[in-house]
Amino acid sequence: MQQSTEVAPGARVIPNVVAPRPVAAPAREASTADKPAVIASDLWAYFGDTAAVKDVSFAAPAQAVTAIIGPSGCGKSTLLRCLNRMHETAPNTRVEGKVEILGTSIYGEGTSATVVRRHVGMVFQRPTPFPTMSIRNNVAAGLRVAAERPQSRAGLQDTIEEALKRAGLWEEVKDRLDDSAMALSGGQQQRLCIARALAIRPRVILLDEPTASLDPLSTQKIEELVYHLRETVTVVIVTHNMQQAARVSDRTAFLLVGELVEFAATNALFTAPKDPRTEAYITGRFG
Ligand SMILES: Nc1ncnc2c1ncn2[C@@H]1O[C@H](COP(=O)(O)OP(=O)(O)O)[C@@H](O)[C@H]1O
Ligand SMILES: [Mg+2]
Repeated sequence: MQQSTEVAPGARVIPNVVAPRPVAAPAREASTADKPAVIASDLWAYFGDTAAVKDVSFAAPAQAVTAIIGPSGCGKSTLLRCLNRMHETAPNTRVEGKVEILGTSIYGEGTSATVVRRHVGMVFQRPTPFPTMSIRNNVAAGLRVAAERPQSRAGLQDTIEEALKRAGLWEEVKDRLDDSAMALSGGQQQRLCIARALAIRPRVILLDEPTASLDPLSTQKIEELVYHLRETVTVVIVTHNMQQAARVSDRTAFLLVGELVEFAATNALFTAPKDPRTEAYITGRFG
């Protein structure tokens, strides 16, 4: 694997396929001083005898966005699902190697998968609100599962409001919290799912192609949200959209047939890739 850290001062010359960031805030350079929140070491993930993730090692800095890019079928979702012990929920699967989340070895002896998933939230490609529940109860649903102690009614309402604000949905739904979640647009439903994940205050949130089913405007809203989420939570986002990775992330991992080809500051990876396979991919020669 190539590690590129150098980038020309002030450079943000994204090659042909990559549009500039849509948001006003300047790109933050991930510095080596950033403390990793997620560390994968020599990670392998199998379906039966077939390895979908092969000897992957990387460290995602805390309160930053790390993007995982690569062509369809290269193992992006599988890698992501190893970071909160979801991979093992599919039949005939196996994980080898180590994943540390904020210093805890999540595959270590005595570590509960349920507790891991409480600290490491996940949002999927298609919005998955609970269809029979109101907007309010969708956000509360995660809390009911996670809560060690039931919250007071007022405390619960505050938590719901805070989660909807963090997900950028509050202004759109505050007057209709008891409407069905299904009355929302696809983009709003996805932000509701992000609110549901945020409500339990995870330390890390995993997003698996969260805009794949959305229109451009809804996509832009989610990208802006992701960009700002890193102020409070560590984000790992899978995307097959390189422009999206370039717009929202601090670091990018490029995966190819289960192997991590290159992991670098996003600027560096898109402007000065070290590996010829990365260059071929980002310039659109395959994938
Ligand atoms: N449930 C499954 N059973 C068997 N193989 C699977 C399963 N899910 C994914 N795979 C295989 O694992 C590899 C990686 O898949 P995936 O992680 O979904 O890739 P990506 O998210 O990059 O498209 C692919 O070859 C895929 O066919
Ligand atoms: Mg996938």
